[in-house]
Amino acid sequence: MADRSNQPSTLLATGRRVCGALAPLLLAAGCVSNNVIAPPVALVATESANVDRLEQGRTLYLQRCSRCHAAPIIRTLTPDEWDYWLPDMLTDSALKGPPAEAVTAYVAAVLQAPAVVFAPPPRD
Ligand code: HEC
Repeated sequence: MADRSNQPSTLLATGRRVCGALAPLLLAAGCVSNNVIAPPVALVATESANVDRLEQGRTLYLQRCSRCHAAPIIRTLTPDEWDYWLPDMLTDSALKGPPAEAVTAYVAAVLQAPAVVFAPPPRD
């Protein structure tokens, strides 16, 4: 597997840069980058994972779960909280069948990945 040890700081630094440049536009959204909300598949996929399905799940998560409220930072909810919320929220998003399963698989992959990757960026 690829060495991931130097990736988190790169990601978070990118998030802060985008956040700073776009701050006037992003204030209402709380200025949290997509890579913090929903980490890239490359950071959360295991060797046996279906990467295409996880990519589909991440794309749908970012698109569909931000329609009524800001898409939650996945790691801020516990697995039990996700079990409670996600089925209803998939229904609210008009997702079922394979697309719903892709989102569920992606959220599970994020929850199972090493936590150090997902520390939120420091406040300015
Ligand atoms: C049609 C609007 C709508 C869509 C689309 C939607 N949500 Fe929600 N979401 C809500 C509402 C409204 C609530 C407040 C709780 C309730 O009334 O069920 C909520 C609450 C939540 C909560 C609980 C928040 C908390 O404070 O604990 C989570 C987590 C959540 N949504 C995740 C998602 C995810 C993930 C998706 C995409 C699969 C999604 N939502 C799509 C309307 C939506």
